[in-house]
Amino acid sequence: MMRDLYCGEIREEHIGKRVSLCGWVQRRRDLGGLIFIDLRDREGIVQLQFDENERKAAFDIAFTVRSEYVIKASGIVARRGGAVNPDLATGALEVLTDEIEILSRAETTPFEILPDSDVKEELRLKYRYLDLRRADLSASIKFRHKVTALTRNYFYDNGFLEIETPILNKSTPEGARDYLVPSRIRKGCFYALPQSPQIYKQLLMLSGFDRYIQIARCFRDEDLRADRQPEFTQIDMEMSFIDEEDIMTLNEGYLKKLFRDLLGVEVKTPFLRMEYAEAMDRFGSDKPDLRFGFELKNLSEFVAGCGFGVFENALKAGGSVRGINLKGYAGEITRKTVDALTAFARDYGAKGLAFARWTEDAPTCSFAKFMSEESLSAVYKALDFEKGDVILIVADRDKVVFDSLGALRVECARRLGLLDPKEYKFLWVTKFPLFEYSEEEGRYQAMHHPFTAPLDEDMGEGKDPYKARARAYDIVLNGCEIGGGSIRIHRRDVQAKMFDALGITPEDAEEKFGFLLTAFRYGAPPHGGMAYGLDRLVMLMLGLPSIKDVIPFPKAQNASEPMSGAPDTVAAGQLDDLGIGLNM
Ligand code: AMO
Ligand code: AMP
Repeated sequence: MMRDLYCGEIREEHIGKRVSLCGWVQRRRDLGGLIFIDLRDREGIVQLQFDENERKAAFDIAFTVRSEYVIKASGIVARRGGAVNPDLATGALEVLTDEIEILSRAETTPFEILPDSDVKEELRLKYRYLDLRRADLSASIKFRHKVTALTRNYFYDNGFLEIETPILNKSTPEGARDYLVPSRIRKGCFYALPQSPQIYKQLLMLSGFDRYIQIARCFRDEDLRADRQPEFTQIDMEMSFIDEEDIMTLNEGYLKKLFRDLLGVEVKTPFLRMEYAEAMDRFGSDKPDLRFGFELKNLSEFVAGCGFGVFENALKAGGSVRGINLKGYAGEITRKTVDALTAFARDYGAKGLAFARWTEDAPTCSFAKFMSEESLSAVYKALDFEKGDVILIVADRDKVVFDSLGALRVECARRLGLLDPKEYKFLWVTKFPLFEYSEEEGRYQAMHHPFTAPLDEDMGEGKDPYKARARAYDIVLNGCEIGGGSIRIHRRDVQAKMFDALGITPEDAEEKFGFLLTAFRYGAPPHGGMAYGLDRLVMLMLGLPSIKDVIPFPKAQNASEPMSGAPDTVAAGQLDDLGIGLNM
């Protein structure tokens, strides 16, 4: 072994002992006859001391050392002669180095390897291996390892088997665009990279494996966002002979342990549960952030016939009028802020934002002059509008009203500094609609996926299947969907009805998922499961703004990888082998 322990592991107990360490030179300070080197490795930093009078040979080599050189150093651990550094675990100690070997030299790095130096993301991604040397990013990657280790242990302890599923697949209908891989042997045919292991994990239940877990890489060709990467990781699970309650309880136990063991945070279980319809009605979102209030209020009944065209027309068109009260924040939410919020609401499709602010004796209101006194006071009363408050109102189709007010609620909380990343509010959102109408496609689609079971009570004779709710649930943390799943359909007749409702003909269904439908002929257990977005979970646990901060080699905004240059063109010969010609 070249070394005895990690730099960051040196403690009082090592005083007087001789140690050998290896690492990177964080920095060198030259004080005449004394040189100090901060030596860094995975576990931290320790100070090496070189004294020209006492240990000249080592001193002379240390003199030539520059930042990011890789060295091996040996010497006696001692209490620091100079000032103690309270920020370092090794801050009271140093190594009186008598031997030093330069293992490799380094050119000047494109940016300094400091915890929070202000370096452009582009540069950080291009030299990601250097970025990963920085203490904060390196700590996130190590923390992520702890999460996966604890996750595996928790589920193994609960009888789960870890089983791998294929990467080269036929496409699974998860809704996003597939990444395709051309086949050389069957020219003109393509594999799809998995959007999730959904079908395979269900097949594993049919095989009798009963409890499955996998930390699975998933691929979706979608636009990137702070919480979305084209390549991401799921904690994916499936169980047989269970219901929603079993899955939720098991996962509450998991999250409780995760937060207790890794963050020292006690989260209360069981988590709050809320039906989808209630979440939309109260928060305008299926992933409400419960760290603050500002709940939506439906004002439709109070503004029918109020005289204000904007409100009345929205109602006539089958929409609604809803508002929120930023209680007590009239001082912070200035007129100028309201203008910014109006622009913000437009990004979510709102055509305008009606508001009233009450700072002085009387409120200033953008719509009072358009409507009857009576309706106005009914609106104020419904929103509990008082001195010191600001109310914001949107009138439109329900989708626009929910999207814009749901987003405004969070935007206001952000502006008001109400989003504490260290406060963790969990919520199960349940009973999602089975179907959702896609305006783009002009037809109904499965809201979760087409294997999700409907609620029995919504299915009987004479009931509209498009109004049915699903046995689907999402787990939400601080306004972010960290996971979701459902109880699946395990009967062929129900699955056939589902395809029929989705407008998938029996022939199409056979073509696309024939293997799954055939599998259901041979004895299928009732089953269900869920998957977490591991990257999102780790990001929220650490209070970081983007999942890029917890992925070692993430993609940049345009889905490229600035370091290697992927995606890249390939040699013509490679395309010939695949029978592919470019048509650009
Ligand atoms: P779903 O599509 O909801 O369900 O995905 C599960 C979780 O994965 C995370 N996630 C993502 N994270 C980062 N980047 C992305 N592009 C991305 N897309 C999704 C989210 C999400 O909650 N097979 C089902 C699960 C099941 O029914 O068991 C599925 O994939 O946190
Ligand atoms: P206007 O008639 O465009 O001057 O609008 C009068 C008031 O109604 C302004 O405060 C607008 O911001 C507001 N407004 C316009 N459209 C909407 C809408 N769809 N929802 C809520 N308020 C709106």
